Amino acid sequence: MADTTPTGSPSAAEQREAALSEAQIAVHWREEELIPPPPGFQEHANADSGILERFAPENFPQCFEEYANLLTWEKRWDTILDTSGAPHFLWWKGGRLNACVNCVDRHLADRGDEDAMIFIPELEEDEIQHITYSDLHRRVNEFAALLRDFCGLQRQDRVSTHMPMVPELPVSLLACARLGYIHSQVFGGFSGEACGMRAADAQARILITMDSYYRNGELIDHKVKADEAIERARKEGVEIEKVLVWRRMPGEYHSDSPMIEGRDFFVDELLEDYRGQQVEPESMEATDTLFLMYSSGTTGRSKGAQHSVGGYLSYVTGTCKYYLDIHPEDTYWCMADIGWITGHSYILYGPLALGTTTLIYEGVPTYPDAGRPWRIAEKLGVNIFHTAPTSIRMLRKLGPDEPAKYNYQFKVMTTVGEPIEPDVWRWYYHSVGKDKAAITDTWWLTETGGFLGATLPGLQAMKPGSCGPTVLGIEGVIYDEDGNEIPKGSGVAGNICMRNPWPGLMMTIWRQDQRYFDIFFSKYNRDPNSKDWRDWPAMMGDGAVQAADGYFRILGRIDDVINVAGHRLGTKELESAAIEAEEIAEAAAVPVHDETRGRVVEMYVALKPGYEASKEIEQHVSDTLVRVIGPIARPKHVWIVSDMPKTRSGKIMRRVIAGISNFTDVGDVTTLANPDVVESITEHVQSAKRAAGEVPDLSAEAQHEIKTFGADSE
Ligand code: PRX
Repeated sequence: MADTTPTGSPSAAEQREAALSEAQIAVHWREEELIPPPPGFQEHANADSGILERFAPENFPQCFEEYANLLTWEKRWDTILDTSGAPHFLWWKGGRLNACVNCVDRHLADRGDEDAMIFIPELEEDEIQHITYSDLHRRVNEFAALLRDFCGLQRQDRVSTHMPMVPELPVSLLACARLGYIHSQVFGGFSGEACGMRAADAQARILITMDSYYRNGELIDHKVKADEAIERARKEGVEIEKVLVWRRMPGEYHSDSPMIEGRDFFVDELLEDYRGQQVEPESMEATDTLFLMYSSGTTGRSKGAQHSVGGYLSYVTGTCKYYLDIHPEDTYWCMADIGWITGHSYILYGPLALGTTTLIYEGVPTYPDAGRPWRIAEKLGVNIFHTAPTSIRMLRKLGPDEPAKYNYQFKVMTTVGEPIEPDVWRWYYHSVGKDKAAITDTWWLTETGGFLGATLPGLQAMKPGSCGPTVLGIEGVIYDEDGNEIPKGSGVAGNICMRNPWPGLMMTIWRQDQRYFDIFFSKYNRDPNSKDWRDWPAMMGDGAVQAADGYFRILGRIDDVINVAGHRLGTKELESAAIEAEEIAEAAAVPVHDETRGRVVEMYVALKPGYEASKEIEQHVSDTLVRVIGPIARPKHVWIVSDMPKTRSGKIMRRVIAGISNFTDVGDVTTLANPDVVESITEHVQSAKRAAGEVPDLSAEAQHEIKTFGADSE
């Protein structure tokens, strides 16, 4: 901001005005029309209009009993919502249940012979596997017996899993849930190092992995990552006792990594001793921990969202029923990976708790061509489909006419993970949904367990690009920086917050209570000693604007997080990985608009003395990011610069670099310690991009995100 007052600092009024005009970018958006749910769908939908009343704010928190009543409890709760440890909210205190029983055992009587899961291997010629609830029960029990007797695990011990999308992944997780072990699945595409860091933070005793899996038609060596993970965990001071290795093709080992005697074991061999064994499920407290899910935040290390057994399971079950309209007889396909929260909540726990059939697809949606998802949908009769804007954009780009060639019919389609452009939304609605499916745009986070913003598919109209109002039982609000409410329809953006807690909200960040408070509550908490939930609005870290009809439009993260293809990567995490390349003195990561992936990472690096800029160094930085984090972190470009734009106190101004990379206004740079570098970097980067035809055309939302990127850390 320019120094305009005689004293050199802007007046409060000027500050307010500058903030407003930035936020008012929102008023320039075209307001999209409301589209009513498709008529044919409404008759069968899982919603009666009374539900909105039953979940009205005056019925909080007891309204959520409707979700809890969808589960089978060994003992009902004494307290619905215990706020005595606010902001660590506990739901269904005193209640006892088991998540595995709810997802498997309780369906045996009515649905034992129905498919719980259908596994679709990536290679189209490989046989599709149907796994009934009875099969799943048998497999989970045998593996649970192995975990208990061979590994000697105790309740609430941690088990890390680093598995691809195969049925052995849900079998492993459900076996942990059956015995009360806390599972922590790390996305299979992450590197061994990333897995090791997370396993160390969780203090895992066991790592479960697989030798190999198919991706893009290739059999990938995955076991090698387990060796790196163990090594990394050891450096962090955690000794993992055993590595259990499932084999993609039982009896055949497809990895170059040797099995370490006494540490590594083939699961298919061990299981021979546990055939037919049944394991009594543990009676768990509702407030025990079901799993940890690591996600990126503003500081370097990823943090473990700690989700409860009862609160979490009730929330994902209820939201699956009402927002995805899942009935037991449906065939449901969520194309996410179980390694992300979407997969935990909306491939595994929610759908299985409702006794439906959930698909597990091993590979990439466009393998071998962009017609694959629609062939799968036709062949298996999928009627509920769930994916992310990044996949929708990719499928549209590679096969815009493919959906019309296949005879499938969806009733509900979901989008999740990042804002969807209205134009992409329309292709999804008309071409994929054939104008007959309701779209639920679901906005939420790893930490929230389940949906926060979405429309009820049978009751509420859709609006392209907006997730809708906040969901049943949760009241959303937008606050400005000072905690004033920004009224609906004002066109002004601010921080979206939830006024009240809900059962799916994580209990804390694993072993970091203070960070849990700092990130979500410190900004708007009214009294740190208060035991009243009304004093604890939770800030979700997204910028948003609310239309007059109450629908929220999410603008993206306000912190230093880059959302790549719907997945969060922390800038600090990326930067510390980049400086593992020995040539690098300093690094800054920024988001860059990308047509299919939403955002991708660009890395700016400054070299240590004695090194000359070269293509080899750029490649080395890129490879280092992939090695340390995984292919998702591969930057689109590595720009070697002589110096980074910095504030006088020495902080790198990522907002300025992000502006350069995206061809947007870099804002005022006169207060920088080294304003001259901005011009030389701009010239270097933008001329290269122009030559490559990489000048992006940014939407208003994207411009807003770039303009505010990293602003809170300046
Ligand atoms: O910025 C929001 C964006 O993804 C972030 C959460 O990322 P993660 O914890 O990885 O969870 C992804 C799956 C829930 C949010 O802070 N986001 C998620 N869903 C949407 C979205 N942005 C806009 N619209 C969505 N539907």
